[in-house]
Amino acid sequence: MDDSLLDAAVKARQYAYAPYSSYRVGAAILDSEGSVWTGCNVENVSYGLAICAERSAVCRMVGEGQRELKGVAVATRDGGLPCGMCLQTLIEFAPDPSVVYVDTISESGLKKRYLLSDLMPFGFRSDDLKRT
Ligand code: THU
Repeated sequence: MDDSLLDAAVKARQYAYAPYSSYRVGAAILDSEGSVWTGCNVENVSYGLAICAERSAVCRMVGEGQRELKGVAVATRDGGLPCGMCLQTLIEFAPDPSVVYVDTISESGLKKRYLLSDLMPFGFRSDDLKRT
């Protein structure tokens, strides 16, 4: 397991802005060039505007010109997994989700590893747009 990616997610979590849910999330993404992009959840008094940590990290990566992710790490209090919206966003930038690990870490330090393809086996892919 890539402990440095998990460490980056844990560090990012300290910046989480979650005054409404108190569920703080940190995410770290490794891109194909070896750079790490972090993000945290950012909530809003208009609850539906909350931005998840994983999508925040993806936006930072893409906003700096990188479009291929190699690994994901998520830090939460309980080892929670990315939501469906985040999984769909992650597979957009994972040419082969079956080789991308999603590692999680809880506050107690429990680490778990999943494959992105197991978490999102039937995501919507660009090929789905091409079928007539
Ligand atoms: N959250 C994330 O940051 N990532 C997820 O994949 C699931 C949920 C955040 C959104 C909200 O700020 C809080 O967790 C509770 O839903």
